[in-house]
Amino acid sequence: MEDTDTAPGLGDDGLTPGWAPPPVDAIDTAKAHPARIYDCLLGGKDHFEVDRQAAEVVLKALPGAREMVRENRAFLGRAVRHLAEAGITQFLDIGTGIPGPGNTGDVARSIRPDARVVYVDYDPVVAVHSRALLAGADPELTAIVVADVRDPKSILDSPAVGEVLDFEKPIAVLMVALLHFIKPEEDAHGIVATFRDALPPGSAVVISHGTDGGDPETSAEARKGWDNATSQFTVRDRDDIVALFDGLELALPGVVNVPLWRPEGAVREDWADIWFDGGVGFKR
Ligand SMILES: C[S@@+](CC[C@H](N)C(=O)[O-])C[C@H]1O[C@@H](n2cnc3c(N)ncnc32)[C@H](O)[C@@H]1O
Repeated sequence: MEDTDTAPGLGDDGLTPGWAPPPVDAIDTAKAHPARIYDCLLGGKDHFEVDRQAAEVVLKALPGAREMVRENRAFLGRAVRHLAEAGITQFLDIGTGIPGPGNTGDVARSIRPDARVVYVDYDPVVAVHSRALLAGADPELTAIVVADVRDPKSILDSPAVGEVLDFEKPIAVLMVALLHFIKPEEDAHGIVATFRDALPPGSAVVISHGTDGGDPETSAEARKGWDNATSQFTVRDRDDIVALFDGLELALPGVVNVPLWRPEGAVREDWADIWFDGGVGFKR
């Protein structure tokens, strides 16, 4: 593990990115970070005061935000399970977040014990936590890479990605609750297309994305929580999110509010209050 994740990812001090391009920075406790705001909303412990303040802004406008991120996380689990059951054994999880129970590797390996997983995030805090959590992981099967999805080629060309994943066999690329951190001018569509084009047939792309829930004013208030963070929050509507799957075949039920995506139990009645859309697309 040590060799795989330090060589392409972190520098000698374990915090400074060794090779990744800007805007990756060292751990900054003075600025809120999306991964730590998310952790705070999820009820985790890995965040700082500045992240709690940001989460408070979100919750003040949108008290249901905690439920939303829990449902998003549950969607991630169901999507990974679905893909592992469909035979996919390789996962490239971009915008991993601070790993908690039910992370991609846990779910995938509960079905495919030999699943290969590369975690990618631009936040060095995520890499530090991932490394601690995955300390005993088999380095042939797992890697952690610090990189920015706005430079997709830096991820595809990363030595750790090439060592763990075989691009001759199907790979699931996860961009779960990630692309709303890509501004309109940063071309989320082009980013997804770059991964799609690099994948072999049988591969899949998993996306979930924040929406304004049909209430733009409340959404704008809530999004102020990210105004002073390292990335801001851009909502997209259903059509824009469907368009991210261009060139892919959407698995049923298509792009839906995440609680409606292949639920494993009763669907909550207030599913429309979960302002995340998600779906899974296959490359044929
Ligand atoms: C809301 S969390 C989602 C975590 C996890 N995917 C989930 O859905 O449970 C978003 C993650 O994306 C990461 N992120 C945001 N912008 C990024 C970028 N440009 N490149 C790589 N990671 C990014 C953040 O650091 C954070 O960990």
